[in-house]
Amino acid sequence: MTDTDRLVSMEDLRRRARRRMPRVAWEFLDSGTGAETALKRNRERMDAVVMVPRMMRGARHPSTAAPLLGREWTAPFGVAPVGLQSLMWPGIEKALAAMARDRGIPYCLSTVAGESLEDIAKVNPDFWFQLYPPTHADARRELIKRAEDAGAKALVLTLDIPRSSRRERQRRAGVGMPPKTTPRLIADVLSRPAWALATWKRGVPTMRTLAPYVPSGDMTKMAEFTAKNLAFDLTPEGVAEIRDLWPGTFIVKGVMHPEDAERLVEIGADAIWVSNHGGRQLDIGAASIDALPGIAEAVGSRAEIIFDSGINSGADVARAVALGAKMCFLGRGFVWGVAAMGAPGAAHAEAILRDELENVMAQLGCHRLDELRERLA
Ligand SMILES: Cc1cc2nc3c(=O)[nH]c(=O)nc-3n(C[C@H](O)[C@H](O)[C@H](O)COP(=O)(O)O)c2cc1C
Repeated sequence: MTDTDRLVSMEDLRRRARRRMPRVAWEFLDSGTGAETALKRNRERMDAVVMVPRMMRGARHPSTAAPLLGREWTAPFGVAPVGLQSLMWPGIEKALAAMARDRGIPYCLSTVAGESLEDIAKVNPDFWFQLYPPTHADARRELIKRAEDAGAKALVLTLDIPRSSRRERQRRAGVGMPPKTTPRLIADVLSRPAWALATWKRGVPTMRTLAPYVPSGDMTKMAEFTAKNLAFDLTPEGVAEIRDLWPGTFIVKGVMHPEDAERLVEIGADAIWVSNHGGRQLDIGAASIDALPGIAEAVGSRAEIIFDSGINSGADVARAVALGAKMCFLGRGFVWGVAAMGAPGAAHAEAILRDELENVMAQLGCHRLDELRERLA
């Protein structure tokens, strides 16, 4: 039995990732906000979705083909935008973008990711770009134009950060940009030799899409830049302005209320991405799985429905699809894969999710994704 054979579930990858990542990076990835009630609620409410299997359906080999936004993906899950991913594992953005390309699932790059959008376009020409809109109109236009020139297949506008969340657990762990070099941090990094070596080879993580605006590459200056320049107060007019600047597929992320969803459809969103940002913004907020059915119903066939927050298995994907999602995304989950195993962990995580989903569909007696809804208890 190889070591990889023992990593059979996403939870196995999570545990292994925790052992290999420095504490400061782990806390950044794993934390929610406040008392982490929203984070726990995402899990609890997901677990409360139960389904009833039907027998004699001959669904031993179900199809996970997932049509979305004019293309057929091979599965209804993809890689969510995660900022500063390269802090969690050096080179992770390219590993995940390449895996998504090879496996035929969507990949979305964050504005504040470690790699630039131009470099990711070379790895995965079908990538989506997630936008934290710059405060200044010229900068907004320029960044959106760069995404268009690089060939991003969709612009994903994130709405759910009206201001930074408190993230108390991160503060306690000394997560900062850059983290302060203290004896504790040095000991932390030295206790994770694989991460330390990979980071040493690759250089200190930074935000390469934003590098042209902070030529020194200095992380303190980068942090000041993002705090000051990625603070556009989003109103319906602001969203409409961004919609007008983007000629292609337009997705809005972080929607939790049916009326917001309807307004965004009127503004021209092609897809509504239901999400509570993985429980990282509002601790008294509803679980995103609870928001999903109402939004799916309000939107109907006028736009596609995308979902994230709390998807940790193929079974969770089946639950969200049953409740109206056409596509699910994982933020933390794919990071666990690469942090646990290095680049091969990207495909390993994908294979676990795919196998779990196929297995759950077979157990439920579903040949196709659109049959899942009928199995809700
Ligand atoms: C460490 C971390 C960084 C994130 N950075 C971004 C980001 O830059 N842009 C964004 O739209 N969402 C960001 N998100 C939210 C994810 O895209 C996604 O909504 C969330 O992780 C889904 O929850 P899950 O982790 O339970 O899958 C981040 C999430 C995490 C955990």
